[in-house]
Amino acid sequence: MLTDASRRRDFPSLEGKVYLNSAAEGIPPLSVGKAFEQYFADKLLGMDGRDLHAAQWNAAKELLAGFYGLSTDEVSICSCSSEAYNLAAMALRLKAGDEVVINDLDFPAGATPWLVPGSPATVKLWRHRDGALHVEDLIPLLGPKTRLVTTSLVSFFNGFMIPLPQVLAAVRKHSSAQFSLDVTQALGRIPLDLRDVDLIVSSTHKWILASHGGGLVGVPSKSAAAWTVPAGGWFNLTDAFGAQRFETAVNKPGAAGFTVGMPNYPAVYAIRAGLDYIRSVGVEAIHAAAGPLVAQCLEEVGRLPVELLSPRDPSRLAGILAFRHPEADRIHKHLRSKNIHVMSHAGRLRVALHGYNTSKDVETLVAEMKSALKS
Ligand SMILES: Cc1ncc(COP(=O)(O)O)c(C=O)c1O
Repeated sequence: MLTDASRRRDFPSLEGKVYLNSAAEGIPPLSVGKAFEQYFADKLLGMDGRDLHAAQWNAAKELLAGFYGLSTDEVSICSCSSEAYNLAAMALRLKAGDEVVINDLDFPAGATPWLVPGSPATVKLWRHRDGALHVEDLIPLLGPKTRLVTTSLVSFFNGFMIPLPQVLAAVRKHSSAQFSLDVTQALGRIPLDLRDVDLIVSSTHKWILASHGGGLVGVPSKSAAAWTVPAGGWFNLTDAFGAQRFETAVNKPGAAGFTVGMPNYPAVYAIRAGLDYIRSVGVEAIHAAAGPLVAQCLEEVGRLPVELLSPRDPSRLAGILAFRHPEADRIHKHLRSKNIHVMSHAGRLRVALHGYNTSKDVETLVAEMKSALKS
């Protein structure tokens, strides 16, 4: 991933392409393709394949626990981040008068379960200023009624990374709320210290280079009672096939309760392979290689006649930066014509830099941006 040789070996599809869209879709290494083949081979065994599926499940959970800094009992895998958040909303059993704090840099998955019809809590919006969320703006939103503060660690919108220790300190000092963190745009890209977070959620098709169909859930045991999901199912129940099964259903507390039925095993195989790959390269090494590319890109793009949406301080970013231009669509088309892949959405262009990117990728992007902006 980090050298020409390993990039060519593990990501042959990137040859001749400037791929800067890992915040939307990561490019899986070939080992993830092998994991899918393995799934199919194991599935052909019918019921005998179940032990092999379970082994992949356990290996994926063990890897995930390492990334989240939790034990294997404190993590589980559902089908996507949105599912995890909807189950989380069930677990909180909010009442009228309860308050939930969301923010305007967050992805809808974590922000909207509290906004849908029938959700009884009052939602308070922590607004960004100049592309950054400031802790001093959060504090007045906190109080005895706050039940949940939910945010992404890294914004999908502009790449801003919240100052996690300061945010957590403010939440703990000014409320007794649960704190949930979406690490989709961080996991696999930057080293994480998630101590004291009550609920951790991540999608699986971006920076961890796995597939669609996973939602990675972490709940430390101290928060498990608060996150007991009252959902029907069987995988999530303590005794789904016991003698009392048509009289009562007892939910597993914490992360285990977020996997309601049969795990999405094809995704689980891919997640195991993706996390294994990231671990073998090392998140520190990925960040050491890709961090300077973000700084380089920020500086170069910051000099262009575009509206930068990301903070100018690279230490507040992980792998994403974003900017706006009235002719974003035309610029995007120009970049695509040069086989440069960035995200274009609602007038904003987003660049994402992972361990398989190079300084040359940034130079090519900036040169073609200049060319597009001239014409
Ligand atoms: C921060 C964040 N969370 C979640 C998701 C995706 O959610 P889901 O796994 O439900 O599709 C995205 C996708 O862009 C995201 O950026």
